[in-house]
Amino acid sequence: MPAPSSPSFCASSIIGTGSYMPDKVLTNDDLSKIVDTSDEWITSRTGIKERRIAAEGQATSDLAAEAARRAMENAGVSAEEIKLIIVATVTPDMFFPSTACFVQKKLGAVNAVCFDISAACSGFLYALQVARHFINTGNRTTALVIGAEKLSSLINWKDRNTCVLFGDGAGAVVLRKAAASESDAPGRVLSTVMGTDGTLADVLKVPGGGSSCPITAENVESRPNTIHMEGRETFKHAVTRMLEASQQALEMAGLSASDVSLVIPHQANARIISAIAERLNLPPERVFMNLDKYGNTSAATIPVALDEANKAGRLKPGDVVLLVAFGGGFTWASSVVRW
Ligand code: UT7
Repeated sequence: MPAPSSPSFCASSIIGTGSYMPDKVLTNDDLSKIVDTSDEWITSRTGIKERRIAAEGQATSDLAAEAARRAMENAGVSAEEIKLIIVATVTPDMFFPSTACFVQKKLGAVNAVCFDISAACSGFLYALQVARHFINTGNRTTALVIGAEKLSSLINWKDRNTCVLFGDGAGAVVLRKAAASESDAPGRVLSTVMGTDGTLADVLKVPGGGSSCPITAENVESRPNTIHMEGRETFKHAVTRMLEASQQALEMAGLSASDVSLVIPHQANARIISAIAERLNLPPERVFMNLDKYGNTSAATIPVALDEANKAGRLKPGDVVLLVAFGGGFTWASSVVRW
């Protein structure tokens, strides 16, 4: 597939990162006490050792707001400076208002326009691209882009195929328009590609709770409002699409895989990540993984990992950072950032 043509963007730069993971840890051994699974199976098939679970009463907007506060502090921007808040999530606080509206209220970001994006695990990179468009074409020059999930609210704790995979958490970045004179501004987003294949929408979904299958007294027992996934089919497409998207985003930025200092892939399965790294010829030290600690937090995986890499000093000025995601829809996206 040819690389999509690059729109001429003015520079927008990631000027701060933040993340928030709930305190409660659920280990593989904990899970083996509630479903027929084992630490050995989960570790060898996924790489996950434990995940975080939000506290009772803690909503997605609480996780998102805390990650956003940390990103704003890291960027040195005030709540009033934020002109746009986009929350990527499949676990909104409620159908409406958007989770971003609750985040705005919690932050006191009174000058922001706020909305959510639903693109499953690709949501953060979709949101990053939408924010770039706002920055490019309008006067909303400072944006909070957040990936936040409380996936524990969508889990069937009796389904070992899915309950071992997911966790809760949030990550955020502050994105700001760089002046023309700052075309080499640190954190500059060089390219983003996105793709969707709705013909495979049924492979990974939460079938119930929406307008096509409202929850009723009759269907509630079958738990339609939880995650259903054909794991092997998802795995296969994830490898192909993430590889393709990575190559396209690099090509759009005029770079190749050998230029990549660090790839931060969506954290769903260590075997998917290794397969992509191998095909891009990237050694393990240039591949970021934290899914052993958090599992798959959908839209949150990339901003959380980006923040951890940033705070751990793994991103040096001038580094080429490749972000790549795949998720339900199917959706996929990739972005190249010059740190
Ligand atoms: O974030 C969006 C993108 N998501 C992904 O990319 C996830 C992609 N898929 C995957 O990561 C993997 O397909 C899974 C981790 C979900 C499953 O791994 P797999 O190697 O594809 O296993 P499988 O589904 O082929 O199942 C193998 C066996 C089955 O038993 P049988 O039928 O061979 O007897 C399952 O019942 O493993 C069994 N199994 C388990 N056993 C112990 C499935 N889940 C478990 C479990 N513990 N938790």
